[in-house]
Amino acid sequence: MCGIVGVVGRDDAAPRLLEGLRRLEYRGYDSAGIATLVNGHIERRRAEGKLVNLARVLEAQPLAGTTGIGHTRWATHGAPTERNAHPHGTARVSVVHNGIIENFSQLRAELEAQGVEFETETDTETVAKLLDHLLAGGATPEQAVSATLKRIHGAFGLAMVFAGHPRTLIAARQGSPLAVGYGEGEMFVGSDALALSPMTRRVAYLEEGDWVVLSESGARFFDAEDRPVERAIKLTAYSGAAVGKGNYRHFMEKELHEHPVVLGDTLRQYIDPASRAVALPELPFDPVAVPKISFSACGSAYLAAQVGRYWIEQVARIPVDADIASELRYRDPPLPEGGAALLVSQSGETADTLAALRLLRERGQRVLSVVNVAESSMARESHGTVLTVAGPEIGVASTKAFTAQLAVLASLALGFGRARGTLAPAEEARLTAALLEVPAHAAALLEDSSEILELAREVAQARDVLFLGRGSLYPIALEGALKLKELSYIHAEGYAAGEMKHGPIALIDPAVPVIALCPSGPLFEKTASNLQEAAARGGRIMAFTDAAGAPALRRFAERVVVLPAVDPFVAPILHAIPVQLLAYHVAVLKGTDVDQPRNLAKAVTVE
Ligand code: F6R
Repeated sequence: MCGIVGVVGRDDAAPRLLEGLRRLEYRGYDSAGIATLVNGHIERRRAEGKLVNLARVLEAQPLAGTTGIGHTRWATHGAPTERNAHPHGTARVSVVHNGIIENFSQLRAELEAQGVEFETETDTETVAKLLDHLLAGGATPEQAVSATLKRIHGAFGLAMVFAGHPRTLIAARQGSPLAVGYGEGEMFVGSDALALSPMTRRVAYLEEGDWVVLSESGARFFDAEDRPVERAIKLTAYSGAAVGKGNYRHFMEKELHEHPVVLGDTLRQYIDPASRAVALPELPFDPVAVPKISFSACGSAYLAAQVGRYWIEQVARIPVDADIASELRYRDPPLPEGGAALLVSQSGETADTLAALRLLRERGQRVLSVVNVAESSMARESHGTVLTVAGPEIGVASTKAFTAQLAVLASLALGFGRARGTLAPAEEARLTAALLEVPAHAAALLEDSSEILELAREVAQARDVLFLGRGSLYPIALEGALKLKELSYIHAEGYAAGEMKHGPIALIDPAVPVIALCPSGPLFEKTASNLQEAAARGGRIMAFTDAAGAPALRRFAERVVVLPAVDPFVAPILHAIPVQLLAYHVAVLKGTDVDQPRNLAKAVTVE
């Protein structure tokens, strides 16, 4: 997925487009470009690689004009080269695009048959050439856009400017979110409100199939049938100052240090600290009657859902399934009448999760989304939403959003348990108290990460790493492996500790560090035995545990990092932080790009 920004303004467009793109760079950073209207003509600058390269190009060759569009790309069709960088277009029209035009080959063949020549391998160029063809035939920009939108299929967001129309920008949404920003005598468009936050906090969102015509004085919205429609203006929570690294080296480091605040803010939404009672918002299903809960999510959010599964089954005794969203879509599971679907997503825009949401809705499930962005597509399309209060997460690897998801899911599990009578009041008070203590423990853990840095020095030398955990710590082992892979490019696998002897134990040798998540609690002995099996075969065990677990592990583990002692119920939340920190330190030691790991992007809005 890519980031789109556009402006019909009073001042020079280029610096504002660049500022908007800076806030969208987390969405993709393969290449970037902008186009503006200069004396009615379209001019553009593009650069391969990160946005800083485009900034350099613009310094050397500045771009005038007050109306323009910009793009930061995560390549889908066509390599990440300058030639394939957006905007694409002709002398008449310039287009930036997020998403995929599924029928582009067929449209391209049609246009080529009519003598139209193409310069790139991108699907976006097909949109530009189709528009150009219609404009050349005498269509106005609005007519050309309306006709083009009826020909293209897929999930996309588009922004377009037209030669000879210096005060017009047209944008369209089909599956890929777009926000329109209202300024004083100027208007903006962006992939999200964050991109627009330096310019304005007043935004309206395009709905599915909408397109919008911006001029300096306002916006005219149309639906998929070209009927004029109104879209409400809202005030976003983002402020222009919200995105900065502060005194930290990386966004990820800053976001890791935000765990205590984010966990506290999120838990306070759902637990009353005075009474220690869970206070859930109105839910779109009755947890007492619900026959089954189906979780669906991607990446780290899926791993949070897996922890949620352990919690809900344990505390509320509701049967739970947890699916990778891209698998659920094609698995065709039987879903009970009146079942609940829980979607977990930081961005609320992940294409696979959104598609699962739609499928689950169609199949009669009552949909609750756990998202970090209140205005996101998932929030808008669900029957109900519970928010994580993590604030903007810019580092591509999920950190504070992940633990905030866990905090919400733990609160939901306790709320369901109370409603169903499977959780006695005294037990609820004990577990909510344990949850409310997590932010303080997280702060203590983050105060001194020198031991984790020491561990990172060893892990940084490895080619392969195993992460092991049991029960609700098993998904955290998977999260540790995922984080290490994506940030340091070291191959890592997460396993249920008890599963190791069924195959992965063959990998054990002194060159493969085994990172164990082994807090004291009911599963401690079992996990410790599995670790001993690995140690007996020459495995180098590096364990995260607490003071009670440390002595037993020290007998055979090479390193033991002691974390604050917590109730086993909340241990997954606390153990997520050191595995994220470990991946962070390893990445810094290896000199990889921590905030923008190769090939990745933050909100994956393509299938
Ligand atoms: C990993 C990571 C990704 C996301 C996944 C889902 O560190 O960040 O695996 O968790 O792409 O994204 P959201 O939560 O926005 O749906």
